[in-house]
Amino acid sequence: MAETFDISLDSLAGRSVAPQNVASSNSSAPSHRNGSTFFLETFGCQMNDHDSEKVAGVLLARGYRQVESPGAASLVLYNTCSIREKAAQKVFSRLGEYRTKQAAGQIIGVLGCVAQQEGQEIFERAPWVSLVCGSASYRKLPDLLSQLEAGNQRVTGLDTDTDETFETPVTRRDNPWRAYLTIIEGCDKACAYCVVPYTRGPERSRASDSVLKEVRELANLGYSEVQLLGQTVNSYADPSKRKMRFSDLLLAVADVPGIRRVRFTTSHPRDFGADIVAALEAQPKLCNHVHLPVQSGSTRVLRAMTRTYTRDEYFEKVAMLRGAKREIAITTDIIVGFPGETEADFAETLSLLEKVRYDALFSFKYSPRPNTPSLSMPDAISEEEKSRRLAILQETQRKIQSQRNATLVGNTFEILVSGKSRRENQWSGHTACHRVVNFASQQRELLGTYVQVRVTGAGPNSLVGEQVT
Ligand code: 5AD
Ligand code: SF4
Repeated sequence: MAETFDISLDSLAGRSVAPQNVASSNSSAPSHRNGSTFFLETFGCQMNDHDSEKVAGVLLARGYRQVESPGAASLVLYNTCSIREKAAQKVFSRLGEYRTKQAAGQIIGVLGCVAQQEGQEIFERAPWVSLVCGSASYRKLPDLLSQLEAGNQRVTGLDTDTDETFETPVTRRDNPWRAYLTIIEGCDKACAYCVVPYTRGPERSRASDSVLKEVRELANLGYSEVQLLGQTVNSYADPSKRKMRFSDLLLAVADVPGIRRVRFTTSHPRDFGADIVAALEAQPKLCNHVHLPVQSGSTRVLRAMTRTYTRDEYFEKVAMLRGAKREIAITTDIIVGFPGETEADFAETLSLLEKVRYDALFSFKYSPRPNTPSLSMPDAISEEEKSRRLAILQETQRKIQSQRNATLVGNTFEILVSGKSRRENQWSGHTACHRVVNFASQQRELLGTYVQVRVTGAGPNSLVGEQVT
């Protein structure tokens, strides 16, 4: 979903993973799969990216080797996204490309949200697929793989009624410095437009002890930044006796020796309380950035979306963040063209943008999704009108971002360096407030280190600067 703010630096940083990045409690991978290879392509959100890291970990532990092209793989997996129609369509066009591969002995598998949503239908539409498995069933993967390895042609994992989370002792991580960690899976919020409750099932939180144990392991492996993940990360409810609140968990994660930065996404406004702001104020290791999707600036539309807060209640959360002792960046998601959204509703969204002045915005045209309540709502907005509203929204935000970023020229930020440009002496990384900074430095090796960078220029989507020593 990253559009304007989170320019992916992972490619610059080299996403291919060295073996030492395989966090394993059982490092001697069995060799019986020697010769088996897998290719895994991921669509969609960070949750999917991280699920893929775990799936890759499971496969590596079984002795599979990861390859960079589907042609070279004995097992081709797609971890799919169905949040918007376009994302879901991509999967079927990809599968179309693989029609002939099964004959060549390749096993094709569909994982993730499209797998959950379409289920057995996938076998109808693409009979050359052998594995269909939704995210709530990943803990069954070893078992499903055994069935495939035994020659079974149609294997499925489609339960969502599990109360377990997908914890694996072996997780392969793509970013050598930032580790992602799911603390809550699924969603109970039932927004009218959203497939997530359907594809990822009900909310299940991981026990705080288990989260903290993994953070300690990550710190020992050299990760200095962790990002806690959940569709509604701040709805975290510790299932263990400790009953840690989300804000307590944030503070405990930040206390783990070796951890320098803690991020979390995505926060739901309803569960965003003063205790989280207090934690951000008290602990500088908690990054000063909150992603707080508003979806619309109109209370009428918010009600139709079942977002469970009004425009004014959302402003109260923003006021809490703006009133904090530290400056906190706020980013958001907005959907334009929800059924029945009038010109006046849209004007309220624009005025919300001017009032909040977000640091970044991810904006989407409403996309009708199967099994969602809004599918049958009247007064659909035409594609043309959605595109018009999206363009106006993005242009409004572009101006706001340009202005906000311009005020940062002259400031110095700490950057975690994660990218090296092909141009000599040019590097890139993120500030704690999650801005991308491209900067010059004469030093030879900076990847994975924290440096001070003075901002010398600003565009709408990133900053430029130079290292200060
Ligand atoms: N249509 C358009 N955007 C959607 N999102 C979720 N469902 C839909 C949909 N049906 C957006 C929301 C959410 C983000 C991850 O994707 O803004 O916050
Ligand atoms: Fe979807 Fe709403 Fe849950 Fe977010 S909070 S995942 S938008 S249902």
